[in-house]
Amino acid sequence: MNQGRALITGGAGFLGSHLADALLAEGWNVVIVDSLLTGRRSNLAHLENEARLEFLEQDICQPFDVGKVDFVFHFASPASPEDYHAHGIETLQAGSIGTFHALEIARKYNAKYLVASTSECYGDPLEHPQKETYWGHVNPVGPRSVYDEVKRFTEAVTVAYRRYHNVDVRIARIFNTYGPRMQIRDGRVVPNFMRQALTGEDLTIYGDGSQTRSFCYVSDEIDGFLRLARSDEHMPVNIGNPNEFTILQCAQHVLKLTGSASRIRHEALPQDDPKQRRPDITKARELLGWEPKIGLETGLRLSLDYFKNAVAHESTVR
Ligand SMILES: NC(=O)c1ccc[n+]([C@@H]2O[C@H](COP(=O)([O-])OP(=O)(O)OC[C@H]3O[C@@H](n4cnc5c(N)ncnc54)[C@H](O)[C@@H]3O)[C@@H](O)[C@H]2O)c1
Repeated sequence: MNQGRALITGGAGFLGSHLADALLAEGWNVVIVDSLLTGRRSNLAHLENEARLEFLEQDICQPFDVGKVDFVFHFASPASPEDYHAHGIETLQAGSIGTFHALEIARKYNAKYLVASTSECYGDPLEHPQKETYWGHVNPVGPRSVYDEVKRFTEAVTVAYRRYHNVDVRIARIFNTYGPRMQIRDGRVVPNFMRQALTGEDLTIYGDGSQTRSFCYVSDEIDGFLRLARSDEHMPVNIGNPNEFTILQCAQHVLKLTGSASRIRHEALPQDDPKQRRPDITKARELLGWEPKIGLETGLRLSLDYFKNAVAHESTVR
């Protein structure tokens, strides 16, 4: 991939900020457009003196133009269940209007394009593990539909821009990713368990904890994005860790790592909570030579200092 100028929408978020680090390390100039709806400037604080980074506070649902770019990475969208429930309409807008705007920039400047899609496109899957060819099992009017359905729409707009306007697109179907810079109160499994374990609260498990998830450490995920960006694959590619754990096993790993005396508390399972989710990554393996390297125990260990600091900071600012 020739280094040039890359736009990252949502670059002040968890994944976007790690992507910015990786692109800068490869020699790119990076412009970030972010409304700070769910992201934070502090995710970019370490890049304060980086001359090759520009930041524009801007809602991508409003028209915008950052000048010539060579690559558009479209990541702007509330992503955690807490966030997309709190900002349902904004989530629908970012994935629809915002996606049109991001694709129009790619079209205008003849830039390559990669969008952050999601395993949520598979809904509560009837096929396991999920291959890219599976069309999904999604409730279009359920509480999660503001996210699931707009991400499916995002994919539809993206392939349409390829078919009708010949934009050079890529679609990453991202499975649960974790690591430093996640918000500690975003409702996702790893930050929830880490925060609860580090503050001595009970770890909350919804249902009996037998539902499974696969967790990918952030550096593996970013490596997958960069490989996909360099490829010529225009249809969706699963990027996630196929090692499957029950939620209960994940809680036990966190308790062991933190040495916490917290206990596990079970609560009712939310509506439409997927019972299992695991990527089939054959396509990424064969096409991109990619597979994750970091297992759950190592990834949790690599994240521990960040979560300790985040919890300490939260308790001092209150
Ligand atoms: N983290 C995961 O496990 C995961 C899994 C699947 C898909 N994804 C996708 O990856 C992308 C990034 O997720 P994340 O985990 O980094 O979430 P995040 O909330 O940390 O980052 C999203 C960023 O987008 C910004 N944003 C939201 N709406 C915007 C708008 N209208 N205009 C400008 N900026 C806006 C937010 O302020 C935030 O900085 C999202 O598209 C998400 O759907 C993430």
